[in-house]
Amino acid sequence: MIIAVDGPAASGKGTIARALAAHYHLPHLDTGLLYRAVGSGVARNGADPDNEADAAAACAFPDTMLDDPELRSEAAGTLASRVSRHPLVRAALLERQRAFASQPGGAVLDGRDIGTVIAPEADAKLFVTASADIRARRRHLQGQSRPYDIILADILARDTRDSGRSTAPLRQAKDAALLDTSNLTIDAAVRKAIALVEEQLKRNR
Ligand code: CDP
Repeated sequence: MIIAVDGPAASGKGTIARALAAHYHLPHLDTGLLYRAVGSGVARNGADPDNEADAAAACAFPDTMLDDPELRSEAAGTLASRVSRHPLVRAALLERQRAFASQPGGAVLDGRDIGTVIAPEADAKLFVTASADIRARRRHLQGQSRPYDIILADILARDTRDSGRSTAPLRQAKDAALLDTSNLTIDAAVRKAIALVEEQLKRNR
């Protein structure tokens, strides 16, 4: 069984994807980490994240790099968003994600284009969202030292970049269930996510 979870930054998609993976005993891949690894690799090479060839040259990183806590930083998120618009980067990371999705028994993947590009055949798809204001507040509460206004501006810039790019833009797949977590606690959002997945599984049976 493949479960695709997509959505914008700080929507709660990562938390929901991890909870779904635990609930259904499936392996989980946070695909954002792959783009973060590429973005950080480009920076480490002293290269330009907006240059497609420079970004493509950083795509062959070892899996061990995904454990680097530095990848979780906001700087790495912004670099990820810049390299992720390049078609060569998306193509280089495609097989890795598809192989994970199609492993025996299935998997949960979260990202921006899982339901639309990586696993359009997924058995269940969620599009997790929340208002930009709430998402910025969450990041603020997560202990980021930057002021709320700056975090909000960064989230809005990332939304525009991710939704506006021509290759695999962030958008809800036609057959994805929408889950707005703006006014939900984590527990309530997870319960709702499981209910939506169950509904889709029943429908597809
Ligand atoms: O957790 P957060 O949403 O802040 O970031 P992330 O999921 O780690 O993604 C970081 C950036 O990688 C996003 O802003 C996207 O530009 C890019 N990304 C993508 O293009 N496609 C994916 N499947 C996952 C991430």
